[in-house]
Amino acid sequence: MPTDLSPIEKAKFVAAKRASQLVEDGMRVGLGTGSTAAWLVRCLGERVRDEGLQITAVPTSIRTAELAREVGIEVVTLDQAKWLDLTIDGADEFDPQLGLIKGGGGALLQEKIVATASDTMVVIADAGKEVATLGAFPLPVEVIPFGFQTTRALVEETLGSMDVLGRETALRMDGDAPFVTDEGNRILDLHLKRIGNARQTALALNQIPGVVENGLFIDICDRVIIGYGDGRIEMR
Ligand code: 5RP
Repeated sequence: MPTDLSPIEKAKFVAAKRASQLVEDGMRVGLGTGSTAAWLVRCLGERVRDEGLQITAVPTSIRTAELAREVGIEVVTLDQAKWLDLTIDGADEFDPQLGLIKGGGGALLQEKIVATASDTMVVIADAGKEVATLGAFPLPVEVIPFGFQTTRALVEETLGSMDVLGRETALRMDGDAPFVTDEGNRILDLHLKRIGNARQTALALNQIPGVVENGLFIDICDRVIIGYGDGRIEMR
């Protein structure tokens, strides 16, 4: 384990380390995005270097692809791999049914495509990501730039009929300019506070023209590995 980790980084590291042990020789593996997934990529890089582990790796963002190459993992596209045995990714929130909010790092679109194209999706998270009901973390929605204001208005109208507590929306910024995703889109963060019916909300949002995808992952995650600051892990 790297030394001098803060409790939160230690929690992320131990969850990632445990998940990296699920990867077997010859597997096709989806690599998530974010600080927890970055630990996973580093742990897998070590196994590639030290054990000669052979995997077909599909990254979920440009950032993850760069890190994977840096640590000696060759990456291919999802189209080259076609289907994956396992995807391991972080999350912004998970609930008791293993529903997720993802996209805090803006990579939700590739993350959802890759996770859906996997036999198994494992989430790695520190204990602070666990919630009884999704929605305290703002829900990211990826929207194409064309007609953005119209799409935003339609999203706000749609939220009016949803079982949610908050209805504010915010365009994600990167300094003075809108944040741009790997696909050249924008992110609208929805401050819903509490999402009463996550499946219904996810479906309603994706029906709006201009919305590419939302960060609710329902019935996609199979297992969560939770890391704690004292180095313990727990599986759900
Ligand atoms: C990126 C994601 C990340 O998995 C999520 O934001 C968690 O990130 P971190 O591990 O840094 O807390 O969905 O789009």
